[in-house]
Amino acid sequence: MIVIKTIAEMRQLRKDAAGSVGFVPTMGFLHEGHISLVKRAKKENAVVVVSIFVNPAQFGPREDFKKYPRDIKRDLALLEPLTDIVFMPSTDEMYPKNYSSWVEVQDITEELEGAARPGHFRGVSTIVNKLFNIVEPTKAYFGQKDAQQVAVIKKMVRDLNMNLQVVACPTVREKDGLAMSSRNTYLTSEQRRAAPVLYKALMLAKELAAQGEKDAGVLRHEMTELIEKESLADIEYISVADNETLKEIHRMKLPALVSMAVKFGKTRLIDNIVLNR
Ligand code: PAF
Repeated sequence: MIVIKTIAEMRQLRKDAAGSVGFVPTMGFLHEGHISLVKRAKKENAVVVVSIFVNPAQFGPREDFKKYPRDIKRDLALLEPLTDIVFMPSTDEMYPKNYSSWVEVQDITEELEGAARPGHFRGVSTIVNKLFNIVEPTKAYFGQKDAQQVAVIKKMVRDLNMNLQVVACPTVREKDGLAMSSRNTYLTSEQRRAAPVLYKALMLAKELAAQGEKDAGVLRHEMTELIEKESLADIEYISVADNETLKEIHRMKLPALVSMAVKFGKTRLIDNIVLNR
């Protein structure tokens, strides 16, 4: 495994790479969810590239950029058996002085996470576009846990005619259903015990839809009631939306994206499932 920090080195290695390149962009502090993406990339490609870069442009001024968890030594040890190249640029390497170009995907960034975190997807699409230009992957792998991020990146790739395939991989969960996330480490032990209520609410929505419930409002209402029973949980949004446009639906229409953002103290967790026909 080669660990590099500059764009010039990455470009040189890309030039020398024979066969397909599978790319997993990350912000580090890796967990089983990330590792499942790297394993998939390894299975499907000749060369695996993982980037580790905590992207300041996708954090709001009151968000957790400074305290976002970092553990490079542990990350590199986890990647060693699975990865050929780790690209770990500095902030100055990615955003030099006078940097002023941004990528904005419209419409689907207005809902859900986009509404709750203004500017977030502008930061995500810009950094992912830059990383794609530098790594030039054949395939890039993203977790379905960030469902809207996957939708935004797929749209950007389509709209800007980028020559790569975006692969969405299933959410990896703890035994009690909590979706794996680097931010889970912020939870106190009481909050950690309470957090699986998100998954329970998603399962409730799935069950209601399977029973033939046609009113999306009923799903939102029942999920809200269930989560509100958990005193440590503070709902930011609960959504039942069209899986393509991400606009809220009233009558159930499948496939639908059921998603939520819920705070436990200062820790904001997101989760989702897609209800299919
Ligand atoms: O999902 C993430 O970790 C980040 O949003 C990404 C895709 C690495 C861009 O910074």
